[in-house]
Order: sequence, then C-alpha cells, then structure tokens
Amino acid sequence: MTFTRTWIAAAVLFAASAAHAQTAPSTTPLYQSLGEKPGIAAFVDDFVEHMKAHGRIGKMFDDIKPAYLKEQLTDQICAISGGPCQYEGEEMKKSHEKLGIDKAQFNLVVEILQNAMTAKGIAFSAQNQLLAKLAPMHRDIITK
Ligand code: HEM
Repeated sequence: MTFTRTWIAAAVLFAASAAHAQTAPSTTPLYQSLGEKPGIAAFVDDFVEHMKAHGRIGKMFDDIKPAYLKEQLTDQICAISGGPCQYEGEEMKKSHEKLGIDKAQFNLVVEILQNAMTAKGIAFSAQNQLLAKLAPMHRDIITK
C-alpha cells in the first residue's frame, strides 16, 4: 500500500513537472514587462503606423507591406527581449543599406517607438532596457 501511494505521488509529480515544462518556456522579465508577444505586437502596430504617417520618413515605407514589417519587428523585439520567438527577417545591414538613413532619422524612429510604448503603458525602465538592446544596431542602419 505504501509502495503504491509513493508510486502514485511520484507519477503525479512527474506529470506536473512535464506539464509545467510544456506550458512555461523560460522567458526574461524584460519580455514580460513588454507584455509578452501580444503586448509587443500592440505597440509595434502603433509604431509602424506612426512611422508610415510621418512627414520626414513615411515615404520610405511605401515598398514594404505593413503586415510583413509588423511581423518582423514583433519577432525581433520578442527575441531580443528574451521571449520564445525567432527573428527570420533580413539582416539589419541588408534591409537598411540602400535607404541612406542619417542620425536624425534614426533618433526620430527611436522617439516614435518610445511614444508607441508609452501609449501602451509600457514602464519607462522596460522601454530603456529595450532601447539599450536596439541601440547597437545603429551601426548597421545609419549609413549617412
Ligand atoms: C533600431 C532601429 C531599427 C530597427 C530595430 C529596425 C528593424 C527593421 C526590421 C526588422 C525590418 C524588416 C526587415 C526585413 O525586410 O525582413 C526593417 C525594415 C525597414 N526599416 Fe528598419 N529598423 C530600425 C530603424 C530604421 C530607421 C531609422 C528607418 C528609417 C528612418 C528604417 C526604415 C526601414 C524601412 C524603410 C524598411 C523596409 C525596407 C524594405 O523596403 O525592404 N528602419 N527595419
């Protein structure tokens, strides 16, 4: 009897830990602070719409489908913030090199991203952590 009960307890524990492993892939606090994938997709949606509508840079986005750009940005931010996503878009250098982007345009895009995150209620500390991870990309994006 004791043997059976011990065996049942072990089986229950094993099943519980297997279920936990399946439903909770390891993610980071930053990914969680950004609202996980649905939260990221929400501010990326705003971000892309505001870039497209902006008088100084909007025209640059005429040749890329907004839905595709939103999907790539969401996956990229999800992955870089420690979420369970994989970025499968173009390399930053390749996708930006022909655009002739200068420092002012880069800073403007960062500002639009900050505004989109603020509008969705993302904490400033999380915003800053994400920006710190994106900042080194300027080397591949700014060519002017
Ligand atoms: C840290 C800053 C930035 C990040 C993380 C970023 C990220 C991305 C990503 C993921 C893509 C899609 C790549 C693909 O085609 O698969 C993309 C495309 C693009 N980005 Fe950026 N970007 C940044 C800054 C900028 C800036 C400053 C501009 C212009 C002012 C810009 C303009 C564009 C345009 C126009 C495309 C579409 C290019 C095409 O037609 O294929 N990006 N970007």
